[in-house]
Amino acid sequence: MATKTENNTATDKKLAVGNATVNENEMKNSSLHKFFVDSLKDIYFAENAIIDALEKMQEAATTEELKDAFEDHQLQTKKHVSRLEKVFKLIDEKPEKKECEAIKGLIKEAEEIIKSTQEGSMTRDAALIIAAQKVEHYEIATYGGLAQLAITMGHDKAADLLERTLQEEEDTDFNLTEIAETSINFDAEQES
Ligand SMILES: [Fe+2]
Ligand SMILES: [Fe+2]
Repeated sequence: MATKTENNTATDKKLAVGNATVNENEMKNSSLHKFFVDSLKDIYFAENAIIDALEKMQEAATTEELKDAFEDHQLQTKKHVSRLEKVFKLIDEKPEKKECEAIKGLIKEAEEIIKSTQEGSMTRDAALIIAAQKVEHYEIATYGGLAQLAITMGHDKAADLLERTLQEEEDTDFNLTEIAETSINFDAEQES
């Protein structure tokens, strides 16, 4: 557990949160803070797993356009990992991974698509885009919720970082829709 018991007696530092002043230790022991930290560990695990998954998806994709999109987002995902490390630091917690069953399932789905579609086909790309968008939507829900919680709890710098990542996940989702609708879905529909 990340809860630092040694901090319970170490300080009575006061933090201004909204209009209230709360004891930092009280905040660290709150159920909401614990949930927030747990959720950060969950998405920290997820982002690391996504880096590997995007590698496989990039190799498996048919079109250069989709390969490039996966490559670009893999670079962004590495930034997401380092931003999360900054968020942990800002709230004085250690970056730890907590196994996330949801992302494991979504990545498994992408791997199944690679197995069940023909190499070099547009159908594979159409299906991979949807698999990738499911991952983006999971991230969008997570970062959207965690950014709001960070604001509520007075972690403004952490909220800024979470919102920057949220924006990149939303942009990626939008780009993938564009790629699908510009040509890939149409070309896939022409395949036998
Ligand atoms: Fe991400
Ligand atoms: Fe993402």
